[in-house]
This record gives sequence, structure tokens and C-alpha cells, in this order.
Amino acid sequence: MAFDKVDYTSLSVPAAPFSDPSRIPDFPRDRVPRHVGVIMDGNGRWAKSRGLVRTDGHQAAEPVVFDTIAGAIEAGVRYLSLYTFSTENWRRSPQEVRFLMGFSRDIIHRRVAQMDDWGVRVRWSGRRPRLWRSVIDELETAMDRTRSNTVIDVVFCINYGGRAEIADAAAAVAREVRDGRISGDRVTERMIAEHLYNPDIPDVDLVIRTSGEQRTSNFLPWEAAYAELDFVPELFPDCGRDVLWRSIDHYVHRDRRFGGVTA
Ligand code: IPE
Ligand code: IPE
Ligand code: MG
Repeated sequence: MAFDKVDYTSLSVPAAPFSDPSRIPDFPRDRVPRHVGVIMDGNGRWAKSRGLVRTDGHQAAEPVVFDTIAGAIEAGVRYLSLYTFSTENWRRSPQEVRFLMGFSRDIIHRRVAQMDDWGVRVRWSGRRPRLWRSVIDELETAMDRTRSNTVIDVVFCINYGGRAEIADAAAAVAREVRDGRISGDRVTERMIAEHLYNPDIPDVDLVIRTSGEQRTSNFLPWEAAYAELDFVPELFPDCGRDVLWRSIDHYVHRDRRFGGVTA
């Protein structure tokens, strides 16, 4: 399919949450994962299979991101973490990196009003160094504007790497030890957790990775240590709320034991 045959205009405004209540699955409320993480993978392969360039795949992912957010709101998910750009993604070609930076900045700018309307609180997880100043500026504007929204927190993981996050937390704890605020032999899991990028956000319950790859690629290793994993075959631009709901349906039937034993 040629690029100009793909109708992005009809895709670009996903149905708002609750505009078609008859479609929303009836999950038992107390079983819905509180925090879902999505590794949005397969944009490049989606584009390649259509004879398009990789960046067209990223563009095709934009409406899917917002359809997924709408579906998460409908399902009653309270926190949604979206892996948008990893600390390893700087290894891509300068052209692709430039595209992804500019595109992330533009999406946040273009969609902040829609997210605000939907009650989304915008958050960011990631490292500042290297990340484009303009991306940080858009994130900060969006975070300020949506600070008091309570429907769902959407965490854009941009320039995010799990090992970087844990190393940054360890460095922060080390500074407190140096300053005599805590003693080095008293460092606990809780102290590390309190120095992650967003310590108020609860652990991840469910991680979904699209595109059939079965790895987590440095996504939330601390927060998702006990998450249920769902690896789905669809490439991210072919996803949307139905794929999210199917994974939630798998999740509600899982038995989470956290090392214990169920009665
Ligand atoms: C995911 O799609 C988007 C980002 C990592 C930014 P990819 O670009 O990784 O697509 P594939 O995996 O090459 O198909
Ligand atoms: C993970 O996808 C990162 C994001 C989705 C942002 P990658 O495509 O970068 O992961 P690998 O390289 O296949 O592990
Ligand atoms: Mg990939």
C-alpha cells in the first residue's frame, strides 16, 4: 500500500471514551489492573510491510496511542505507562532519532487539549540529559496543565531506561548517605523505590508488548518486577483498545501469588 493510500485523517481522532458504551467489556472492577505498561513495538515492520519508510510507521502509531488511552479509561485502568523512546533508541539513525524527538514533541503539543478533556494527567518518566529541550518543555507544559486531572495518569516514558532509573535512584540514595541523612548499611528497597522518577505511582500490574517480541527491553524493571506479561502478535499500528482489552481479559484470569500460596 502506498503512503498516500493510508487514510490517517479518519484514524487520527479515535472515539472518545464512553462514546460507545455497548462495546466496553464488563471486567470485574476489582480485577482490572491498576497500572498497565505498554511496549509499543513494531512500527518499523508495519511500515516496511507496506513499502513505506520507518517513520511512516511511527506516524501511523499516533491514533493508536490515543485509542489505547481511551480504552484504558473505559476499562478503569488508573495508570498507563507508554514506552515511547528508550535510552537505547539513540542508537538508531540520526534521521530516525530526529523524527522521533520532533514527533514526540508535536504529539504532546497537539494532543494536550484532548488529553485534558478526557481527564488525563500527563506524566513523564525518563532522563533529562540528551533529551531535546523542546520535548521537555512540551512535557512540562502538559504536566502543569493537567496536574489536577484524576481519571487516568498517562506516563510517557521518553528517554527512559530501567537501569538508568535504578542507577539514578542509587546515586540519589548515595548522596543522602554522604550528607549523613541515612546510614549506608540501612539502605532498603523502600529507599530505592522512593527515588525512582515517579515514586507516587504504584507498581505495574500488567505489561503488554506488541509485535511478537518476547523481551522487556529495559522497561520498568523495578516497577514491573511482579507484573504479569502479555506478548501479543499485532504490530503496534494495528492495535488499539481491543488489543488492550484482550490483554486485560487475560490478566483478570491470572492467579497472582507474589511468592505466596493461594488458598
Ligand atoms: C516501536 O517500533 C517504536 C519505538 C521503539 C520508538 P519500532 O520502531 O521499534 O519498530 P520495529 O520493532 O523496528 O518494527
Ligand atoms: C522498545 O522497543 C522501546 C520502545 C518501544 C520505545 P525496541 O524496538 O527499541 O526494542 P528492541 O531493540 O527490539 O529490544
Ligand atoms: Mg522495535
